[in-house]
Amino acid sequence: MKKTKKLAALLLAALMTVGMAGCVSSSSTTDTSDSSQSTGDSQGSSTVVMATNAEFEPFEYMDGTEYKGIDIEISQKIAEKMGAELEIHNVAFESVIAELTSGKADFAAAGLTINEDRLKNVDFSDTYYSTTQVILVRSDETEITSSADLKGKTVGVQTGTTGDTYATDEDKEYNHGIAEVKRYNKFMDATSDLIAGRLDAVIVDDFPADKLIERNPDKIKKLDEELTGEDYAIAVPKGDTEMLNTVNEVLDELEESGELDEIFDKYLQ
Ligand code: ARG
Repeated sequence: MKKTKKLAALLLAALMTVGMAGCVSSSSTTDTSDSSQSTGDSQGSSTVVMATNAEFEPFEYMDGTEYKGIDIEISQKIAEKMGAELEIHNVAFESVIAELTSGKADFAAAGLTINEDRLKNVDFSDTYYSTTQVILVRSDETEITSSADLKGKTVGVQTGTTGDTYATDEDKEYNHGIAEVKRYNKFMDATSDLIAGRLDAVIVDDFPADKLIERNPDKIKKLDEELTGEDYAIAVPKGDTEMLNTVNEVLDELEESGELDEIFDKYLQ
């Protein structure tokens, strides 16, 4: 969002707060690429752009042509707060951060884990969810019961995720001895390959793992072990304190009102 637009949005939000919302002319969105979609009130005079990868149920996913998920709902609240319309850039996960560094998006909500590498390029909001990476195997698997059994195995991950970092283990931090890491654009495709026997395991965040199991009943199961600690936060362009403050305010409000819990509860089975 351009500075002027942001100012206009803030002014609009301020006006609405004091109950003086006047006439607002509608405007069209700026991006017409296939992967973009605007949602919400088309009366808004400006748009705020969210970068995500909608392949991560329950945080962001497609339900037909509709975007759904926890991050989508939080992002809608952010747009609301700014008096703007939410525009969604649905890109490959490995390009989500680049959407911010190239100025194409205003914030990124994608079940993003805070880590050192990403902190070099973006700023993160307060944490809104804490979780872990887990291992998925076929339901009839008996050989792999923990990360110690991944030695010599072929493991699938989503490209550029913290699960990818864990499996690749470039810094030899985990020393699990995984023989081959196969990278996918979509966890759904990794799961299909696991079921078809082309992978021995998939490493994925815990809540999405449950959703993949729900979508493939009786075919895959989750191991109990917690592989990592992951704190999810919303990313903003480095130094954009205005955007960061807005995001943190919205997260605070959603937490205090209990709405954040309600949003999460909606996606529990
Ligand atoms: N939490 C992991 C990470 O930050 C995985 C996130 C994947 N998100 C997605 N929308 N595909 O790397």
